[in-house]
Amino acid sequence: MPKLCINIDHIATVREARKTIEPDPLLGAKLAIEGGANGITVHLREDRRHINDRDVLLLSQFLKSQPSLFTLEMAATDEMLSISSKIKPGLITLVPEKRQELTTEGGLNVTGQKQYLEKYLESLHKNNLMVSIFINADKEQIKTAKDIGADFIEIHTGPYTENPSEIELNKVKEAISYAKHLGLKTNAGHGLNYENIIPIARIQDIEQLHIGHSIISKSVMVGIKEAVREMKQLIKNI
Ligand code: PXP
Repeated sequence: MPKLCINIDHIATVREARKTIEPDPLLGAKLAIEGGANGITVHLREDRRHINDRDVLLLSQFLKSQPSLFTLEMAATDEMLSISSKIKPGLITLVPEKRQELTTEGGLNVTGQKQYLEKYLESLHKNNLMVSIFINADKEQIKTAKDIGADFIEIHTGPYTENPSEIELNKVKEAISYAKHLGLKTNAGHGLNYENIIPIARIQDIEQLHIGHSIISKSVMVGIKEAVREMKQLIKNI
């Protein structure tokens, strides 16, 4: 069974909508683990639009006894190299990052920046960090990720989730079996939800599923009745 890692960025998105202190991603992480999450994932973006440096620090302290539970998604920049080397998450996932995007739009182009990324991975490995690269289900990209020393890859499931056809599912399956054949460990994520997860969860050899938006969305809906009841109770009791 693949491990379920919860991306809690959007707890921080709601907090940042008001620039206040709630909802708190750290409390969200604790509750997610109580609910059975095998890991917590956050993306520290250059623009800090949701998760910020303090969140990353607090999460890393909370998960210190089991650092393997903590995945930090980040762009391959000098700033992130320095932060991750201090924080020491269990896994780093390198992702492409554009300022205007609403979410990560595609896999990292590893073949297009092979030399740069090879050096970058060397620096991360020197700091004893384990590295995954978020990539499209593309053999050339997967092979290059292996060649430059990635420990894991994360297959971008976005094309499948946008068009959940046999063709797109097979591309994910083939990418995962090719990665396994090369000796890479494989994760998968992006756009996975309660409707499209089953065929992906059934694929052999996926180590971790990284899921964010659909779980945070569901949390709002399963929690809203109770939240209203609590407020009603307070108002009634005056
Ligand atoms: N994996 C990666 C590399 C991502 O960038 C994201 C989005 O932050 C996810 C998984 C989770 O995607 P979603 O929020 O659509 O579940």
